[in-house]
Amino acid sequence: MTLQWTPDLATGIVEIDQQHRDLYRSIAGLHSAMKGGRLHEVRQVLEFLGSYVAVHFDTEELAMVASGYPGLAEHRAAHQGFTDEYARRRAQVEAGPVTPSMAVELSGWLAVWLRDHVRQLDLAMARFLRPGQRNLAAHAVRLGDFLAGQASRCA
Ligand SMILES: [Fe+2]
Ligand SMILES: [Fe+2]
Repeated sequence: MTLQWTPDLATGIVEIDQQHRDLYRSIAGLHSAMKGGRLHEVRQVLEFLGSYVAVHFDTEELAMVASGYPGLAEHRAAHQGFTDEYARRRAQVEAGPVTPSMAVELSGWLAVWLRDHVRQLDLAMARFLRPGQRNLAAHAVRLGDFLAGQASRCA
């Protein structure tokens, strides 16, 4: 199991791919802080990861709302499910001593959840957001431009 972003996870939407990469970097940082028993750093990364994930989910949900994506409800429910589970696991880690096995368990769960979610839901969303573009990597769009386009269409 890898704690790194890999190219098969590319959605072709610049901001979203950047955020996914940042999330993987954080997960790897969390893993090493936990393994090293650096509890202060663990708390900092957990805090950062929680906030950054919220920003990331908002980014995606905003794009789905703006485009009238039909899979919005399902996707939003998956995000909510993650948020709830993350809060539960975070409280558990912050409550007690951090052991190496907890480090493996938590970072493993994060990395696998994110990978499965991107493959199943984010890539489907990206296909909808970018109609007619088959080669995602070659035609990466910027989310800000996309949202500006949606806004001008609504005006
Ligand atoms: Fe998502
Ligand atoms: Fe995502």
